[in-house]
Amino acid sequence: MQRVAIYPGSFDPVTNGHIDIIERGLKIFDKIIVAILHNPGKEYLFNIEERMDMLEKSTKKLENIELDAFNGLLVDFADQRKAQAILRGMRAVSDFEYEFQMALMNRRLNREVQTVFLMTGLRWIFTSSSIIKEAARFGGDVSGMVSSLVNRKLKEKFGFV
Ligand code: COA
Repeated sequence: MQRVAIYPGSFDPVTNGHIDIIERGLKIFDKIIVAILHNPGKEYLFNIEERMDMLEKSTKKLENIELDAFNGLLVDFADQRKAQAILRGMRAVSDFEYEFQMALMNRRLNREVQTVFLMTGLRWIFTSSSIIKEAARFGGDVSGMVSSLVNRKLKEKFGFV
């Protein structure tokens, strides 16, 4: 049986921290479906097509991954894609409460899907898409935290090129 995990997120935009989790996940799972899902609590900077395009280009060297998008419950998507697991990255302790809550809700909604947490690389422990967007908005240098393509897209979005 193929071990398949969904790696869900907003990816607004994808960062090197996300790529780090995907690479770690590929050591455990046969296939990872990286999926853009909707978090109703967020307002997005990039639309879904832009986010997908950045994901596609930032992950093109990785094997055994698929990209997808879904507008609904994460566990329904996992069911639809026959995935046994949901992969989430754990950064600082501050992630714990939110992740714990989400994992327990997902388990309540579908007991067959397990949430697996992987520790992010130390260098990404305080990285987030929001903090990157905030720095980029005011012209800060975020190269090294995102791919060169995402870096360019951020500059374009905030009018620096
Ligand atoms: N390195 C760097 N940053 C990371 C990271 C890592 N390894 N892992 C997560 N992050 C950051 C993201 O950049 C993001 O930063 P931001 O909040 O500043 O944008 C943050 O951590 C968490 O975002 P992400 O992992 O993209 O998840 P999310 O909280 O935006 O989205 C969904 C969560 C989309 C998976 C969730 O809302 C969902 O499942 N939605 C569908 C509806 C559903 O089923 N809900 C759950 C049950 S009710």
